[in-house]
Amino acid sequence: MKKRVLSGIRATGRLHLGNYLGAVLGMVELQESGAYEAYYMVADLHTLTTPFEPGELQKQIREVVLDYLAAGIDPSKSTLFIQSQVPAHLDLAFLFSTTETVARMQHLPTFKEKVKEHPQDVTMALLNYPILMAADILAYKADLVPVGIDQEPHLEVAREVARKMNEKYNTRFPEPQRFATKGEYIPSLTGEGKMSKSVEGSFILLTDSLETVKERLAKVPTDSGKGEEVPTKGGVAVLMSLVEIFEGADKKKAYEKKYLGEGLRYSELKEELSKAIFKVIKPIQDKRRELEKNPAFVNKVLTEGSAKANELTQATLQEVKEGMGLL
Ligand code: TRP
Repeated sequence: MKKRVLSGIRATGRLHLGNYLGAVLGMVELQESGAYEAYYMVADLHTLTTPFEPGELQKQIREVVLDYLAAGIDPSKSTLFIQSQVPAHLDLAFLFSTTETVARMQHLPTFKEKVKEHPQDVTMALLNYPILMAADILAYKADLVPVGIDQEPHLEVAREVARKMNEKYNTRFPEPQRFATKGEYIPSLTGEGKMSKSVEGSFILLTDSLETVKERLAKVPTDSGKGEEVPTKGGVAVLMSLVEIFEGADKKKAYEKKYLGEGLRYSELKEELSKAIFKVIKPIQDKRRELEKNPAFVNKVLTEGSAKANELTQATLQEVKEGMGLL
């Protein structure tokens, strides 16, 4: 039997470069390897764990679906679905929540960060975020999870749930591992933290025009372009790591040499970098435009995807219920 892969992206609107390099590229890589059975979803239920706009949700879900398909998720090779269309995720999340304590969940760095961001909205749903994610993964008995490094604490919880369920209730869950992509950590354009949809001025969207990419890079804070040491923090460091990702390590070295020598002209660097980034996102945009014209195709992909996901996850739910004495 082929090993399984599962991953998801929250429905917070259009994807940015961080999502693409940190997660989607890895998903496509695993899909293309042919060695796995791949399940990819829009984590719309996870979107409800922080403040959200009900009237916007359908649109946001659709954006992620289109970005997935445009970025190379191929429905003839991978199963694509929407989390809330597969009810076993919620059933399992409740059953799994019996294995973890409130204290353990409160101590997760991901939880603490969200509490800082939304101190007025620390809901039970937020506290349960990692349990629902464990359910997403274990429902498919996935072995590999392509996600960014910031998700490691959640994977740790998923492994813990797997172990405890296996010990207590005789289930057979594998312990899922993270699949690391080359875009491990895409820094924020502000020079602080990681690229994030919720931080204005931090991201480049996959749907940005060349002009917009240039405008966004223009705002990255820089310095005089000359010095004794190349900064390892802030805007200059961000530009250097984007250069490395999109133009290669040699190009980065050349810029660093200029910085330490005659001086670096950021206008030139930003112009070249904009073009290199746009070269990567342009084909995704072309594909997306095609897909927008074909909603019937997209709907069919999702209907078939959730049917397949439901079949598999109902079997897992049955096993868990039997193990726990509910059946
Ligand atoms: N927590 C993930 C993120 O923010 C999204 C997610 C939800 C996910 N469920 C998942 C990722 C299951 C991988 C597997 O990026």
